[in-house]
Amino acid sequence: MKKNKILIVYGTRYGATTGTAEEIAKVLQDGELDVKVVNLKKEKVRDIAEYELIVIGSGMQIDRWTRKAVGFLKRFSRELENKKVALFVSSGAQALTEHDGNPEEIGRARKKYLEEKASKYNLNPISMGLFGGIWDYNNMPFWAKKFMGPLKIKIKAAGIKETKPGVYDTRNWDAIQNWAKELAKKLANPPIVNGEMSKIAECN
Ligand SMILES: Cc1cc2nc3c(=O)[nH]c(=O)nc-3n(C[C@H](O)[C@H](O)[C@H](O)COP(=O)(O)O)c2cc1C
Repeated sequence: MKKNKILIVYGTRYGATTGTAEEIAKVLQDGELDVKVVNLKKEKVRDIAEYELIVIGSGMQIDRWTRKAVGFLKRFSRELENKKVALFVSSGAQALTEHDGNPEEIGRARKKYLEEKASKYNLNPISMGLFGGIWDYNNMPFWAKKFMGPLKIKIKAAGIKETKPGVYDTRNWDAIQNWAKELAKKLANPPIVNGEMSKIAECN
């Protein structure tokens, strides 16, 4: 039987999105799907025609996607409008706002990071994932270090442990794996609404 081909492309500044993209790919591959993963900083995508689903991910910095991931959305916007698409972001703030029990801020992040991006490029994603990221105090732009100091206190208060000295990984692997499993299900059985494929994306 012909396998569904899936392309996962992503942009990253500090590496968290690489691990997340690879984890999503692993889950999809375990479900017998044919997956290609592309770090847009290292490889250029010339054609997306052969893929049934395109998953686009980005790390967040000051509420912004990476330039490479935005470049991909711009370059393929027309084709993506007619494809199955899923979006995800790596957000360092996500674990902190969850710990604070701040649904308004989580809602704001989902809207700004995912829903507005989808709407800007006329996309109807079948799924959108808001995941954690990495705070790496050894690898931060010099201009950021000053205002990231006080944040460390918040990170520690949220119970996030250092994975290496100065590195706090807030990714929740169960959430990432569950999202990927749900994505595989949606690909196999797209929800039907009023006879059309659902335009209502679910945020996880
Ligand atoms: C200077 C700076 C600004 C950041 N701004 C945000 C932000 O606005 N929202 C957020 O959720 N995370 C923010 N983060 C945390 C990043 O999202 C986190 O480092 C994530 O891992 C980035 O993805 P990447 O590792 O794939 O680049 C920021 C991190 C740095 C160093």
